[in-house]
Amino acid sequence: MIDLRSDTKTQPTAEMRRAMATATVGDEQLGEDPTVHVLEGRAAALLGHERAIFLPSGTMANLIALLLHVGRAGDEVVLASETHVLRSEAGGGAALAGAVFRPLASDDGVLTPEQLADAVRPDDIGAPRTRLLVAEQSTNWTGGRLWSVDALDAILDAAADLALRTHLDGARLLNAAVALDVEPDRLARRFDTVMLDFTKGLGAPLGAVLALPAALEPAARRFKRMLGGALRQAGICAAACLHGLDHHVARLAEDHANARRLADRLAALDGLDVVRRPVTNIVLAETPDPTAFLAALRAEGVLASRAGATTVRFVTHLDVAGPAADRAADAAQRALDRTATTVEA
Ligand SMILES: Cc1ncc(COP(=O)(O)O)c(C=O)c1O
Repeated sequence: MIDLRSDTKTQPTAEMRRAMATATVGDEQLGEDPTVHVLEGRAAALLGHERAIFLPSGTMANLIALLLHVGRAGDEVVLASETHVLRSEAGGGAALAGAVFRPLASDDGVLTPEQLADAVRPDDIGAPRTRLLVAEQSTNWTGGRLWSVDALDAILDAAADLALRTHLDGARLLNAAVALDVEPDRLARRFDTVMLDFTKGLGAPLGAVLALPAALEPAARRFKRMLGGALRQAGICAAACLHGLDHHVARLAEDHANARRLADRLAALDGLDVVRRPVTNIVLAETPDPTAFLAALRAEGVLASRAGATTVRFVTHLDVAGPAADRAADAAQRALDRTATTVEA
């Protein structure tokens, strides 16, 4: 099977498993795991922040950010409508952080300063207070799109003028840094808080960090405990994340090249419309009947996922070499032939 459903690898590499097996560990809940300390220091420096907190998942990191910035006050969070926070985190921001979400339409998940300014509520006792901007870099459900450095600077200037706090969902921030050819901190340091995930292209079995100013650290660590995120010998997992940082960042460019290779092949097929040529590792394509297409594709040995009523999503990653992208495109051709035959029959 070629699994293109997400960029989380099915198996950590043998080298990553070795790094995990030989990690020096301690009790993370007591603040005594040395490998977690190393990872938190590395991540803070990488993202241009004073501190970083190791967490089991990106979803928990995003939720802690919402708890820090909104904190059950019914305040409003402005974000693009297809962001993961809104679409794929089980409504946790509303249920647990008391956030009111203000989704803004955007084909590529990138917002303009004008959209942000228009979304901010007037000072009115009946209106939620607009408190936070959430940006996603690179985007997930809109197909791995990027905020350019200029677009980021513009939205962050606007957020500062509007006295909004800012959170970056950087699940795939390193994909963005590689694609834009900039240091990660250039994309991250101006945000109040930043999430970075190690389970995407970096291939770790679990782990994310929330980077933040030192002043927010005690409250964030308390929320981590409250949500069940305090761990014990977590260095085993932090070692995998460090291995990912050491060995799997530069190669993200290969995932991007493979996504373009796959997209170019898919674009040539009748029955699939590639939404936009990918700039990172996600390919979206339109097809009239995703359920039938995905079932036929599975029968051909390729797994992809549904991203919308008529949209399918392919994600390239550490397990997908260039020839596998070609094999996936061949399988897509056969799957389209199969579904066409079924419809005719
Ligand atoms: C943009 C984005 N944010 C957050 C997450 C959540 O990360 P995790 O699976 O580590 O909870 C994902 C996962 O796919 C994502 O794509």
